[in-house]
Amino acid sequence: MTPGIKPLVAGNWKMNGLNSSIGELETMRDQFRPELSAKIDMLVCLPFTMLGKAGDFVARSPMRIGAQDCHRELKGAHTGDISVEMIADCGATAVIVGHSERRTDHGESDEQVREKAQTVLHWGQMAIICIGETDEQRKLGSTLDVLKKQMSGSIPDSAENGEIVVAYEPIWAIGTGLTPTAKDVEEAHRFMRAELVERFGEDGNTIRLLYGGSVKPGNAKELMGINNVDGALIGGASLKAEDFLGICAAY
Ligand code: PGA
Repeated sequence: MTPGIKPLVAGNWKMNGLNSSIGELETMRDQFRPELSAKIDMLVCLPFTMLGKAGDFVARSPMRIGAQDCHRELKGAHTGDISVEMIADCGATAVIVGHSERRTDHGESDEQVREKAQTVLHWGQMAIICIGETDEQRKLGSTLDVLKKQMSGSIPDSAENGEIVVAYEPIWAIGTGLTPTAKDVEEAHRFMRAELVERFGEDGNTIRLLYGGSVKPGNAKELMGINNVDGALIGGASLKAEDFLGICAAY
């Protein structure tokens, strides 16, 4: 938690979800009651194929939907790619950029991530910029150096009309059931906060810092209670409304 920052609980469905999964979203939307929406923002980042239908679904709800990637340009000859404008057209208001699975599977560099984030922010959307170290880097003791490099390379100089959110996701904790100790999360987030304040001044204190990697209903309260942890980015446990809402209940 950071004083003055409203937490964000964000789901990342990755390459999961069919139109038949819309029932899970319906439950999340219906359970996102005013008592909860007064405390937290809720977002689910879906596969592109679900965005249109989901956009209609959440249109009159405080629940937000987002995408998991986008192209750095707004339109043009880019077969198979999806632009921020198309994402917004579906009713989505956020895009994850630079998730480690995209950095690994598609060789995305910090510079490419920054360009995508810039487009997202220019379009007035929330850009959730993901960073995090590998197991090898952690064992070498270079976690903070890795975070520093990824932050300076991936985060644009200005939020423009949008909102910058930074998600710390240790790669070794994603989908493994492993999580860093509370002390390690606190140290990483304190470091990230200091980096943001150094770069953006007082505005750096208003940027939401999410933790991601094996967040579950059972560990959410401890993780979300750590200083400078302003919410979570959740993969596996965001697919089922019961688990996702169980994490929201940590607040
Ligand atoms: P996980 O994934 O919650 O399944 O570990 C987190 C993420 O990759 O965003």
